[in-house]
Amino acid sequence: MKYNLYFICLLLTAFTLKTSERYNCFRPGEIWKDTDGKSIQAHGGGILYNNGVYYWYGENKDSPTHKQHVPVVGVSCYSSKDLYNWKYEGVVLPAVKTDTAHDLHPSKVLERPKVIYNEKTKKFVMWMHVDTRPGYKYARAGVAVSDNPRGPFQYLNSIRPNNAMSRDITLFKDTDGKAYIFHSSEDNKTIYISRLTDDYLQPDGHFKRLFIDQLREAPAVFKHNRHYFIITSGCTGWTSNAARYAIADSVLGEWRMIDNPCRGPKSEITFNTQGTFVFPVQGKKDAYIFMADRWNPQNLSDSRYIWLPLQIRGDSLAIQWLDKWDLSYFRK
Ligand code: DGJ
Repeated sequence: MKYNLYFICLLLTAFTLKTSERYNCFRPGEIWKDTDGKSIQAHGGGILYNNGVYYWYGENKDSPTHKQHVPVVGVSCYSSKDLYNWKYEGVVLPAVKTDTAHDLHPSKVLERPKVIYNEKTKKFVMWMHVDTRPGYKYARAGVAVSDNPRGPFQYLNSIRPNNAMSRDITLFKDTDGKAYIFHSSEDNKTIYISRLTDDYLQPDGHFKRLFIDQLREAPAVFKHNRHYFIITSGCTGWTSNAARYAIADSVLGEWRMIDNPCRGPKSEITFNTQGTFVFPVQGKKDAYIFMADRWNPQNLSDSRYIWLPLQIRGDSLAIQWLDKWDLSYFRK
């Protein structure tokens, strides 16, 4: 009897602990733990929605910071059905420790991985920024593929798309199935939009130079109704600066630079963050989430995640700081 009571108490305690760990809201800038209780490692990340599940891919920086850098660990993947609680699926593209010349050797740079699904080849395709240290002189885009969103991903190669440098990168898949990489190029002075072949594994030769000589990086791209939006940052290393957004009627068409979408305190430094991705919330109308990183250059693994709802009216975009919010913010 005494033992039975003891085990019931133990079970109740475990149950209470487990349930109290579950999140039911976003708290931008606070430590965000996975369902195992470990801090999420998915910096410079992006979201893929596949078969009722969200996947969050990002830089795993779980290693000591030395001179504002961490050795490459690889790309982490987390899965979630509610966007608050994330299960760690592991490092789906790990560093290659045995080959010092490999793009993914720990001594190199792997940033801003993004994944899309190719309906024709049935492959999940990841593009990322790969580089060398010091100086980020290699400036290339790496590509990897997998049959499963949970990985493992197989690294294929790296390129300079359309013979142009490629640093901060994002992937955008249009509603017609065409995909594009947006990459900071020409020593970060100009962003390139490079369209991909139907298998998404290389550029198809069509490209556009965007924001020429305007020094923009950290591109995040999405489509709302018939408009294409891009949010970028300025180029100030790990230090925050003002975001800007632009709009176009077609991806390779004319883009109009509008303004800073951020509103309120610290809006001139994007609430002390740098953007990385925008994604639509499934099952909600006009519901998009802006994902950003609050970099901590002294301890990069402790860089925090800032997710905020976008407010879209026609072609105007606003991002307001919220200490705490949940998906009821959006209409059904
Ligand atoms: C800004 C970029 O957006 C980040 O991804 C990273 O490359 C830092 N610069 C490095 O200083």
